[in-house]
Amino acid sequence: MSIEIKLTAKKPARSELHVIPIHSDRFTSDDLEIDKKTLRASGFEADPGQISITQNQSGPCALLGLGESSKEDNETYRKAGTVLAKAAKGFKQVSVELQSVISIENNEAERTQAFTEGLLMGAYEYIELKSDTKPRKLSTVSIVGSGRKMSSGIQRAKSTSRGVNLARDLVNRPGGDLTPVAFAKVASKTAKEHGLSIKILGLPEIKKAKMGGLLGVNRGSSQPPRFVQLSYRPPKPSKKHLALVGKGITFDAGGLSIKTSQGMSTMKCDMGGAAAVLGTMSALADLSFPIRVTGYMPLTDNMLGGDATRPGDVLKIRNGKTVEVLNTDAEGRLVLADALSLASEAKPDAIIDLATLTGACMVALGNEYAGLMGTDTDLADQLLQASEETGENVWQLPLPTSYRSQLESEVADIKNIGSGPYGGAITAGLFLKEFVAEGIPWAHLDIAGPAFADAPWGNHPKGGTGFGVRLLLRFIEDFK
Ligand code: BES
Ligand code: ZN
Ligand code: ZN
Repeated sequence: MSIEIKLTAKKPARSELHVIPIHSDRFTSDDLEIDKKTLRASGFEADPGQISITQNQSGPCALLGLGESSKEDNETYRKAGTVLAKAAKGFKQVSVELQSVISIENNEAERTQAFTEGLLMGAYEYIELKSDTKPRKLSTVSIVGSGRKMSSGIQRAKSTSRGVNLARDLVNRPGGDLTPVAFAKVASKTAKEHGLSIKILGLPEIKKAKMGGLLGVNRGSSQPPRFVQLSYRPPKPSKKHLALVGKGITFDAGGLSIKTSQGMSTMKCDMGGAAAVLGTMSALADLSFPIRVTGYMPLTDNMLGGDATRPGDVLKIRNGKTVEVLNTDAEGRLVLADALSLASEAKPDAIIDLATLTGACMVALGNEYAGLMGTDTDLADQLLQASEETGENVWQLPLPTSYRSQLESEVADIKNIGSGPYGGAITAGLFLKEFVAEGIPWAHLDIAGPAFADAPWGNHPKGGTGFGVRLLLRFIEDFK
């Protein structure tokens, strides 16, 4: 159950914890009716993300640090919201004096949205499969404030966070439970609830659509594949059309090029790209975005059954190109190849794919950054801008054509791994590029690092992060 967020003009009488967000410059110089000495002694300086719960005359109250007012940004508020959601877990009704720190000057709609996102993302827990969890008491947060800007900030945050938490739930579900069929069911339900149309291809239709990459990866599995296509059409016809493609490997064992048990242990996360696409699309109608968006999700696990694709096998992708599979663990690019080919046929104005694609990208950028590659400077710049604004970190990598020779195959049009040990994120990007039709601006986000948290970071708990949802929503909002 998600917590309820309300906007109220005054602090509600039944509030059990009253929270005062405070900048460190105000904390040092002022008028608050609190015992600052004791607070200081406990180490509280109103730094960003610091919280201290104390008592004042009217009951429990918390001070929530925002750092220096001149240095704040949206992320400051998002972080404050996350910290509060965790610290206030044991209070049922909480109120927050948000209006005291925001104004037109620091963009109240954005700040309120970021703070509410922090609350809703911070309150997230994946407890479906636990039998003895202590239920969270926190059920309502009343944000003290008023006006259209604050209320729209809260509304937007509700839609974006719902999308993020949906993606997290999908990533957190075990691979044996979230099969391609189960994923497609969630997509179907989401489509119904959030005004999207959906087309689900089963095995016969996937064969008919000549998706040799998806079929090749699925060959070692006892679970049938699915290909989900979602579409959002705004009420007023729009000129712009965006295609989103998400890697949907519901579990990656590596196929016959089997992973180590250590390497496999988090591979339920390998549909993080598809989860981010679904999470994003779930929010489009709520946010009344004016552009057309189509989502493509190729879904299968990558197993090693008796008829699994063998190293050396050649697959034919939907666009007719043949691929020599020399490592069955480089499977993401095979299913994406089909999806990118299909997406290209609709001639959208841009294609963005998201994929937990390479360990190499994690080696290069670590856990907190996605790798961005692509063919169009404007598109990449718009994604970098959205990254800046949302705090979902993205770092651009080059796609030098000179590396293309590393993908040359003796027997087919291309092979699915590069020949050398280096630049694996880039050779994967160059492989994908072959399946995007000439002239369509395309960007690829390798989210292998940030999609899944081995340890908590930023606003994320351990496990699925929902990375990409907020980034894409911000990108779509400004897509020109
Ligand atoms: N799903 C993995 C990539 C991955 C690794 C995602 C770690 C998240 C965390 C992908 O399918 C894979 O196995 N890639 C190989 C490619 C290699 C065989 C060229 C890799 O990165 O080792
Ligand atoms: Zn793999
Ligand atoms: Zn994979």
